[in-house]
Amino acid sequence: MKIGNIRDLKAGEPLQFNYPDEASPCTMVMLNRESIGGIGSAKNVVAFSSLCPHMGCPLNYSNERFVCGCHYSMFDAAKNGQTYQGLSSQWLAQLVLRLDVASGNIYAEGIEGLVYGRISNLKVS
Ligand code: FES
Repeated sequence: MKIGNIRDLKAGEPLQFNYPDEASPCTMVMLNRESIGGIGSAKNVVAFSSLCPHMGCPLNYSNERFVCGCHYSMFDAAKNGQTYQGLSSQWLAQLVLRLDVASGNIYAEGIEGLVYGRISNLKVS
């Protein structure tokens, strides 16, 4: 599923979308450093579920982190969504991205990790 174009991304400015269904909000962002799972020439474009793994609150993106306003868990966008503060015992679910270099289009092709509220990984066609 196409979720954006790398030419439209600006470092630090998150892009919101839903994947793989309307009940699954996600955020894609271009970071200022190489990132685990990052795409692009600098390997710095990543995307994650926007639902906190702790209790499903919406996450906000700020300074290369995803921050939960409910109980203040924080997740590192450059390190696979690793939890480094707060109550979440799970890392943030990260999307598998593919870049079509010729067009610049970015496609989501799956999710690593369990999205909050799901009892199994999301089926992706
Ligand atoms: S819901 Fe995010 S830390 Fe509790």
